[in-house]
Amino acid sequence: MLINADQIQQMDRIKRLNFINAITGIKPANLIGSNSPKHGSNLAIFSSVVHLGSNPALLGFITRPTGEVPRNTLENIEATGYYTINHVPNHRGC
Ligand SMILES: Cc1cc2nc3c(=O)[nH]c(=O)nc-3n(C[C@H](O)[C@H](O)[C@H](O)COP(=O)(O)O)c2cc1C
Repeated sequence: MLINADQIQQMDRIKRLNFINAITGIKPANLIGSNSPKHGSNLAIFSSVVHLGSNPALLGFITRPTGEVPRNTLENIEATGYYTINHVPNHRGC
């Protein structure tokens, strides 16, 4: 079944949310910790963490567009150069 961009935009909000969220399959969960020199520590969940290479060690993540709301994780990393990433494991093993 073909669905075009207009039809996606016309979907009920929850239907569109479920549809778009499911398109890329099962996503991991990662907690990115960062620190704001002004406001202190920040912990946020990110599914879009990717491993790009190991020599040199290269990781990436995608942050939602900046502008409308503050993107604290990105701002903190840019301000300090430091962050932590902790993968949230699935202990049920599936
Ligand atoms: C399961 C899950 C995965 C998420 N993955 C991302 C992501 O990959 N990128 C992103 O920008 N926001 C993602 N978010 C939304 C951020 O967790 C949310 O916007 C958070 O407030 C970001 O905080 P920040 O202001 O520190 O950047 C995700 C949220 C959930 C619940």
